[in-house]
Amino acid sequence: MTMSGPCRTVLAALVVGLALVEAAKLPTYFQPKCSRKQSDDSAAACVQRIANKAVGILANGDKKLGIPSMRPLVVPRMALSQGTNTVGLNVTWEPAEIWGLGESQLYNYKMSFDSQVSSFDVVIPSFTLSGTYKSSGRVLLLPIHGTGASNVTVTNLRVHYYYEWPTVKGADGKDHYLISKTDIKIIGADNMYINLQNLFNGDKLLGDNMNLFLNENWRELIKELGPGMSEAVGEVVKLVVARLSELVPANEFYSNS
Ligand SMILES: *[C@@H]1O[C@H](CO)[C@@H](O)[C@H](O)[C@H]1NC(C)=O
Ligand SMILES: *[C@@H]1O[C@H](CO)[C@@H](O)[C@H](O)[C@H]1NC(C)=O
Repeated sequence: MTMSGPCRTVLAALVVGLALVEAAKLPTYFQPKCSRKQSDDSAAACVQRIANKAVGILANGDKKLGIPSMRPLVVPRMALSQGTNTVGLNVTWEPAEIWGLGESQLYNYKMSFDSQVSSFDVVIPSFTLSGTYKSSGRVLLLPIHGTGASNVTVTNLRVHYYYEWPTVKGADGKDHYLISKTDIKIIGADNMYINLQNLFNGDKLLGDNMNLFLNENWRELIKELGPGMSEAVGEVVKLVVARLSELVPANEFYSNS
């Protein structure tokens, strides 16, 4: 019952301020470093362990890296449009608040030093998208329009992330990793709760029925909202990894012993 057609998500820029561009060291919360001499498998296990320790700290924001606080992450504007102009769905959050990223845990981390690619899965135990929404178009074939407070909460949102990290010369003349190609998709969720207030110009009966319908059909609905939500998670991952790679030379990431 899902709609065909392109899905497009637009996230306003996330970076709050420019980081200091000085020859940066790997932040202490990403240490001790993993070894370049390890096999891909043991390096992957090491990176995963360190990333999982760092998540909770990074979520508080890091001014030096230009990474905003994620408790919650406030995105000035997030727009999701899907389908065609006549039967599509548009939902905009202005602003969007994303809660729960600080509790993310990575698993299945895989990497290859030779091909310079990595992938991992991440589970977010309770992912909430809230803020003032505005919707128009159709959802699961039913017309929907309204604007007001919102809460979309996904339990155990699981996302797969793939990225390539070729080396390029940085402004400092040193080699840096460049996060070139990324791919992200939702691979699972245990439940989705949705509450859109003030639907249909505040018509309570219609609004309550629509929310009930959306909650009962969350498995179908997540196929429509999912790409937008996973893209938001992907932007955050990319921001962190890209900022780190920009500031810290490649040879600082791993130890040589
Ligand atoms: C969605 O928004 C776009 C751009 O604002 C607009 O052209 C389109 O008609 C809208 N579609 C629906 C179904 O509201
Ligand atoms: C969203 O709803 C969930 C589930 O009812 C609740 O636990 C959470 O506090 C709400 N979050 C926000 C930001 O409103």
